[in-house]
Amino acid sequence: MEKIIVQGGQTLRGTLRVQGSKNAALPILAACVLVNGVCEIRNCPDLSDVRAAVRILRHLGCAVERGEDSLRVDARTVFRAAIPHALMREMRSSIVFLGSVLSRTGRAALCTPGGCEIGARPIDLHLSSLRALGARIDETNGALCCTARGGLRGTTIRLRFPSVGATENILLAAAAANGTTTLYGAAREPEIGDLIRFLNACGARIRDLGAGTLKIEGVPCLHGCTHRVIPDRIAAVTYMAAAAVTGGDVTLTDIVPAHLACMTNVFEQAGCRIEEADDRLHLRAPERLRAVRDIRTAPYPGFPTDAQAAIMAALATADGVSTIEETIFENRFHHVCALRRMGADITVEGCTALLRGVERLHGAAVSAVDLRAGAAMVVAGLGAQGETVIDQIQHIDRGYEKIEACLQALGARIERSADSGSTKPEQQFPLRLLPLRYG
Ligand code: EPZ
Repeated sequence: MEKIIVQGGQTLRGTLRVQGSKNAALPILAACVLVNGVCEIRNCPDLSDVRAAVRILRHLGCAVERGEDSLRVDARTVFRAAIPHALMREMRSSIVFLGSVLSRTGRAALCTPGGCEIGARPIDLHLSSLRALGARIDETNGALCCTARGGLRGTTIRLRFPSVGATENILLAAAAANGTTTLYGAAREPEIGDLIRFLNACGARIRDLGAGTLKIEGVPCLHGCTHRVIPDRIAAVTYMAAAAVTGGDVTLTDIVPAHLACMTNVFEQAGCRIEEADDRLHLRAPERLRAVRDIRTAPYPGFPTDAQAAIMAALATADGVSTIEETIFENRFHHVCALRRMGADITVEGCTALLRGVERLHGAAVSAVDLRAGAAMVVAGLGAQGETVIDQIQHIDRGYEKIEACLQALGARIERSADSGSTKPEQQFPLRLLPLRYG
């Protein structure tokens, strides 16, 4: 089982180009199913979640080729409408294929993604919205059997919560529907804007009227296009946290500073000096961060829930008391347990974590229980005293492209080990503690 091994205490310095956005690339790949043509998706990160989406595209009948940093998707030969459980299970956000498969073929059969480590992850908003667009959806024992005889038809939809995934499924279902759809209460994350730009480049007619209102005028068909995926703002904030916790001096390039505004503000409150230019950001951290109170996750443009674990890892050694409230997912504090193992003083009451900053964390053997918690372990290990060994790192590989190479380029002492345990012999259990098998 692969592990990541971090030797803490190195100050990060240098320049790093940030990967393309996982959460923009995935719905865009699902949207390719709508296109009776060829799409070139550039700046597409090579991640396990992206590879899972490619397996679904190929199963549906698309031809997909990986270029240097791009994917070429030819969806002219889509002939299936069913996605097997094994493929759905690989990536829970596969539910976003529902809207595009249903729109393209008039039917769709897949399973409900189910919950995950961070919460129940219901899809009621997805299903109610697609039914409003004219889909017939039968749910039986976790299986969804969907039809749209005569095609989907435009309507008015009001979301009670700005669900990112539900907004994406509505966009994919309405883009080629008969008539116009007005969506109120849409998610406004930058990844939604990127999906809209991709769809409009394919000939869709989607207008953002502001304040979470989208108008989608259905078109008869969509054609191929070339699209560059936006930078990954969550990967960016993860590397900002790594620089901040090591007292570093790091420049991130190929980013959109506006997408990071809420997070940049927190790092400035923590004592970091940040300068922004068009597509880059320069962060200089103090010797020790200051605590930040009242961090509260919220839908964009609020502080993103996906950045919550990384900022917690950085503030665990800040001077003072920090508070972080998680308002989006009901079970997204898994990283607290591992941070405590590393010496953090964190108490959780309800959905609020209270961090009493300690001088330094110490290295430990910890597990990546989910994608962002795993990345937070890397951040914590970089700032800790000693060695941190992180297992279950397949979770990290879902969302971070070559995370150890990126951090090595900034001077981190981090490596991926195919074997188990630490690199230092004295870190192995001394023989006297191992049960003697034979006499
Ligand atoms: C997307 O998940 C992201 N995933 C998540 O990133 C991100 O944390 C989340 O948006 C919030 O920003 C991808 O883009 C692939 P939601 P999604 O629908 O679409 C409730 C990461 O680490 N809800 O906005 O599943 C839901 O329970 C991942 O990269 C309903 O109640 O998020 C949750 O509490 C993790 N009914 C809240 O809304 C529904 O039908 C936010 O969910 C749908 C959602």
